This record gives sequence, structure tokens and C-alpha cells, in this order.
Amino acid sequence: MTGVEVKVEGLTKSFGRATIWSDVTLTLPPGEISVLLGPSGTGKSVFLKSLIGLLKPEKGSIVIHDTDLVRCSESTLYELRKLFGVLFQDGALFGSMNLFDNIAFPLREHTKMSEAQVRDVVMEKMDLVGLKGDERKLPGEISGGMRKRAGLARALVLDPEIILFDEPDSGLDPVRTAYLNQLIIDLNAQTDSTFLIVTHDINTAQTVPDNIGMLYRKHLAMFGPREVLLTSDDPVVAQFLNGRRQGPIGMSEEKDAAQAQREMAEIGELEGLPPMKPQLAATAGLPDRQAVHRRRERVMRMLPTLPPAAQAAIRESYAHEGGGTATLTRDEVAGASVHDARTETFARPDNLFEPPPGRQRSR
Ligand SMILES: Nc1ncnc2c1ncn2[C@@H]1O[C@H](COP(=O)(O)OP(=O)(O)OP(=O)(O)O)[C@@H](O)[C@H]1O
Ligand SMILES: [Mg+2]
Repeated sequence: MTGVEVKVEGLTKSFGRATIWSDVTLTLPPGEISVLLGPSGTGKSVFLKSLIGLLKPEKGSIVIHDTDLVRCSESTLYELRKLFGVLFQDGALFGSMNLFDNIAFPLREHTKMSEAQVRDVVMEKMDLVGLKGDERKLPGEISGGMRKRAGLARALVLDPEIILFDEPDSGLDPVRTAYLNQLIIDLNAQTDSTFLIVTHDINTAQTVPDNIGMLYRKHLAMFGPREVLLTSDDPVVAQFLNGRRQGPIGMSEEKDAAQAQREMAEIGELEGLPPMKPQLAATAGLPDRQAVHRRRERVMRMLPTLPPAAQAAIRESYAHEGGGTATLTRDEVAGASVHDARTETFARPDNLFEPPPGRQRSR
């Protein structure tokens, strides 16, 4: 089963007279992981809230299963929301409920499960995010990172088809961020759910998603497969994905044009196209991630339209990644030197965040 497609067209959102973004058009490919980037305040959280119908855009449509979520009835919206698992930026746990009850909440609200069944699912998800043993703690008694993980467990508890995470990695230490990223890849390998993740972490953006989008100056600057964005010569995209200070983006967002131009000239001389980091692979023993094959087929079709340097970098990366390129022939990657197949391995931190073996969709 492939996840659900989310088709956004011409979406515009304002608060009073302030337009947050306008004319946003993108399709979250079913069963793939997408990441949304953008400077602080560009409306990434507003976008996620619009996707689940918590905020109403003035123009445009969000179509899921042939239903426009912007215009449907409240009862249809209620049904559609069951497809989603959402981690809000602030975690949004109920302060007076312990972690167990917080995580059990969507099950008690949306399913007819018995308390014994609820307990099984809650314990499985708490184990998955490394919170086993913390069931009775209140949100106020635990660290920010633990609250984040409790929010993650709650977002996953209904085995959602569409998963929206707003900065799941903020406030986590590097080891837990690495584990979280692996968890996202592994979940996608097992469930083929559609993910949209907002992050400010450059390493996450470079190594996790199949697709990357970027909000900038009230518009969607770009959205496409990781290969295309990571090799993009668009100054805004390149600056953001490389975390550089120099470039068009400044603290005030609208940087002085003359200064930006000077800096761009500097970078032009300093750097060529940076090598593309390999994407994280699913943990050994899990199903092959189908999203990778679908995305690569899409990229191969786009390849002739890309700049020569990008084409070369993409062919080079495919040749390097070996194992996962089952849909590509040697001819298709001709022109790049072919090295030994290499798989990304991931050292799992013991006892920090350990998942149970063989977790699967429980529905
Ligand atoms: N309910 C609301 N009413 C009025 N304005 C809002 C509301 N929610 C968000 N905004 C405004 O929309 C803009 C975008 O906010 P948003 O939280 O989406 O930014 P963001 O891209 O998620 O930033 P960050 O990276 O800091 O989380 C901000 O100027 C914010 O003040
Ligand atoms: Mg935000």
C-alpha cells in the first residue's frame, strides 16, 4: 500500500492584511518523505496547520482522496483528520495529564479500542521513542526533548497515513536527532506513509527527505526531489541547504541587495557544487524503501532538463549509492565512475531510544 497524496494548489494565507504566503502549489508524493525549509517566520507552521484544516487559507485548494479540505464540511474534515498524525512545534501536550494519558488520547477519542488494547499500543509507541518507564510522569516534570518525543509517540499512535512533524528535532541532542532521523526513515520503509517535516537542521534536510521545499519571501521558492534541490544553483536554496551566512538571506530576511551581491560574488569564486550527501537508508532487515525507487524514476525523467553540473553530480551520487539503484541500469548512470556499492550504516545508540524489534502497523 502506498501512502496518501496531498495536492496543494494556489494556496494563499493571510492574517488580516498580512499575507503570510501566496500561491503555494506542490504535491506531496504519496509514501515519500518531504521536508519544508525556510527562514523563521515565513509561515512553515501556518502551512502545516492549514494542511490539517486548523487554519483556513483564503484561496486555493488542498486535495486528499478527491476531497478539498479547504472547502469541505466540518464532519468530512473530522474524518480526514484521522489520516493525519501531527507533532506541533510546541509539542502541545495536556499539562494535567500524564504521558500515558496524553499518548492514549487520540485512541480513546477516535477508536473503540478496549483499555487493554489502548495500553498495548501506547506502550509500543512509548518504547519506540525511548520513553518506556515514564508513563506516569507529567509533561511539566520532564525535559523538553522528552516532551518532544512524547509528542512524537502521540502523533504516531493512530498509525497515520500522513505524518506532519513541526521541528521534531529542535531541542534534541545530536545523538537523539540522529536516532530520530533513522526512525523517520525506518517508519517510512515499514508503512509507506507520506511525511512532511519542518526542520532547521541542515544535516536532516540533506540526508532524510526524498523531496525538499523551501518557503521564502512569502512564496514557495522551490519544491522537488532532493537530488534537484541539493544540486541547485539557486542562491537562496544553495545558501539555506549549506547553512551559509553569505547569500541573499540575512537575519532581517530582506538583506541589503548590494551586500548580498558582494557576498554572492565571493562565494562564486570560492565554491563549486558541493558533493551530495547520501540519503539515510532503512535499518538492515527492514523492507526496501519504495519511495526511493519512485523518486529516482522521477529524477531520471527530469534529468535532461537540469543544468549540466547538476546532472553530473546526480549521476555521480547514483553510481556511488549502488544497492538502492535497482531501477537504474549501468547505461543510465554512464558517464560517472562506478565504485563499489556502499550502504550507509547507522550506529544505534544503546539504551537511549531503543525501538522494539519488528514494529509494524497495528491496523
Ligand atoms: N494565529 C495567528 N494569527 C495571526 N498571525 C499568526 C498566527 N499564526 C502565525 N501567525 C504569523 O504568521 C507568521 C508565520 O508564522 P509561523 O509560525 O508559521 O512561522 P515559521 O515559519 O513556522 O517560523 P519558525 O521557523 O520560527 O517556527 C508569523 O509572522 C506569525 O506571527
Ligand atoms: Mg514554526
